[in-house]
Amino acid sequence: MNAPRSALLEPPLTKRIAILTAGGDCPGLNAVIRGVVKSAGQLGYDCIGFLRGFEGLIAPVCYMPLNATNTAGILTRGGTILGSTNKGRFVVRRGVDDHIGLDRQLIDEAKTTAEQLNLAGLICVGGDGSLSIAQQLFEAGLPVVGVPKTIDNDLSATAYTFGFDSAVACATDALDRLHTTAASHERIMVLEVMGRHAGWIALHAGIAGGGDVILVPEIEWSFEHVCDKVLSREADGKRFTLVVVAEGAALPGGNLVSTSDGAGQVKLGGIGRVVADEISRRLHREARCVVLGHLQRGGNPTTFDRVLATQFGAHAVRLVHHRRFGEMVCYHPPQIDSVPVREAVCRLSRVDPDSSLVQAARALGISFGDRPARQSPFSIEAANGCCAPMVAESGIAAMSPISALPSP
Ligand code: F6P
Repeated sequence: MNAPRSALLEPPLTKRIAILTAGGDCPGLNAVIRGVVKSAGQLGYDCIGFLRGFEGLIAPVCYMPLNATNTAGILTRGGTILGSTNKGRFVVRRGVDDHIGLDRQLIDEAKTTAEQLNLAGLICVGGDGSLSIAQQLFEAGLPVVGVPKTIDNDLSATAYTFGFDSAVACATDALDRLHTTAASHERIMVLEVMGRHAGWIALHAGIAGGGDVILVPEIEWSFEHVCDKVLSREADGKRFTLVVVAEGAALPGGNLVSTSDGAGQVKLGGIGRVVADEISRRLHREARCVVLGHLQRGGNPTTFDRVLATQFGAHAVRLVHHRRFGEMVCYHPPQIDSVPVREAVCRLSRVDPDSSLVQAARALGISFGDRPARQSPFSIEAANGCCAPMVAESGIAAMSPISALPSP
């Protein structure tokens, strides 16, 4: 429905919940929409969906009724039937942690729409930029509830966002494929993955896909150490190397590789090529780069993302029903919970270089490009006379004889 303001519906007789999907899309958005529609229906609410994110809230107001018929079969589908945009009149992001206030006129218009449509709740599904818009609408008096989504998994208020698992599955599949061709041709293959300023996708896919080097924004690295890893693998008879690099990993010296769209928006990307070329130059080996790009955002959601997104949708309706506005659903395993949206957008979640996941990767011989290739974190601990509880509890310490063997 594409309606001029004068043609907006009269206040409905039934209760009404609206949902919108904003920012970059990701697998699982349709599962949230379906979760909202189904659970809202159980409580006697009608649902509508605004089109193209927050844009649908302002003239010409665009929305569609959502019901059992037009949401049937969307659980498994990637993308969003409502459309989304990370451009347009509601863009408030210029760079990391750089949010600016919305135009007052936009907020007032959105408020008028919500009032004219007699909304009991407005469920905003988005990443940190979109949720900061949702927060501003809430502060202006709209009955907003937030649902976090992003493949980057960089929202600190939730352990996981849906979309992340699907993106990792895509990147892992790419590594599996690169593995066989890299081995056949004895090449160095560099895979550049998304994630903005967090290295979650690179870290998880790198581990799941048997990467040899993982470069993330959170760990400073050098070409010397990356090349050292390639050479140490060759010394062990492995004539190929898989490098996973996060788009937001800064080059040695601190520069990010990015392009500007001319409107002040910076797009990360291009570091994979730089890494491949430099390895080639230094080692005189063939190094190729693959940029996975938006493949990570497309396709069907994984089982995990379907389950998480469905729970988020149902819980968002519950929050509306209990008039818990200004809150965002979140996942604190094993519970689905909620936090104030304000808290959710103030800090990014980034990889902790000292986390057990990074430690485990290092223990397998994965290089983060910051140390000599053969330095095990456990041998460093032993030299320091300490052993973190994670190591003892997981039983990895009992496997120490293996560390004397050549790395794979
Ligand atoms: O935030 C999700 C994300 O896919 C990032 O990983 C990436 O940097 C960015 O969006 C790409 O945005 P666009 O689709 O506008 O190129």
